[in-house]
Amino acid sequence: MLNPPPADRGPGEPGVSEPVIRVIDVRRDYPRARTSLLKATPPVHALRGVSLEVQPGERFGIVGESGCGKSTLLRIIAALDRPTSGQVVVEGTDITRLPERRLKFLRSNLQLVFQDPMSSLDPRMRVRDIIAEPLVVQGHPASGARVRELLEAVGLSADAGDRYPHQFSGGQRQRISIARALAPRPRILIADEPVSALDVSVRAQVLNLISDLVDELNLTLVFVSHDLSVIKHVCDRVAVMHAGSVVETGPTGQVYATPTHPYTRRLVSAIPTLPRALAGATTSDLLKGAAE
Ligand SMILES: Nc1ncnc2c1ncn2[C@@H]1O[C@H](COP(=O)(O)OP(=O)(O)OP(=O)(O)O)[C@@H](O)[C@H]1O
Ligand SMILES: [Mg+2]
Repeated sequence: MLNPPPADRGPGEPGVSEPVIRVIDVRRDYPRARTSLLKATPPVHALRGVSLEVQPGERFGIVGESGCGKSTLLRIIAALDRPTSGQVVVEGTDITRLPERRLKFLRSNLQLVFQDPMSSLDPRMRVRDIIAEPLVVQGHPASGARVRELLEAVGLSADAGDRYPHQFSGGQRQRISIARALAPRPRILIADEPVSALDVSVRAQVLNLISDLVDELNLTLVFVSHDLSVIKHVCDRVAVMHAGSVVETGPTGQVYATPTHPYTRRLVSAIPTLPRALAGATTSDLLKGAAE
């Protein structure tokens, strides 16, 4: 079994009604490089007061065009970056100002899969050590059996553990990233555009793998994409982001069928079908096309 049943998970299990993730009025400003000696350069307002809640077991999508703040928001939820103001509560703990040494629970319970598996996998490490790494970091080295179990769960053969990342295709490398993310038995999986850097032919397979594993392991999923059609395929609920703000949140089907915010309406009207999205067409491309 990849994850123990919920009863074995010990104290601290959130109640059914308590959100797993609460983001409360989060702002993040980044300083911008100075362009003039005379004038102060205003900061980039990457997040302008974002609030959202993710419920246990939910598949929560975040959609929006490039630069709207999706990755910044994920980094802040994972405490890889800190907000300029606002609050983030994960599994009932306010992580906003917790020092790294108090974030152990988050480092195992919440795992990330990034867009580009090549840059997130150390090329000098064998796959079995890559997968075991999150456990070694936490002082619980993985057994060979556990690594084989994870490889099998993501559809790779047991001997894949002996090889190096460059010996795999892009889709297989993303499977390795997923196995590594699952190694510490997380309850929350955060995926930032996990298929957009992959070959068109393998996007649907990797998307379905994530979806199946989330089901099988009862994970809470936060899934970022710039394509609402991809989000619709994977997520129950969606937050639509535009220029650092959430402009609309709701059940994915409802947002898709009856968008209320003008930006969401534009997004929906320019949406590629899932096959077109998987073939590389993006909403941004289609919005650009519509404007031309
Ligand atoms: N470390 C940083 N320093 C300065 N500016 C940053 C930093 N990280 C992000 N930004 C800026 O914040 C804004 C939001 O960036 P972010 O990467 O969160 O967008 P995104 O929605 O993930 O975009 P994409 O779809 O291209 O990945 C952008 O204007 C970006 O240039
Ligand atoms: Mg991003």
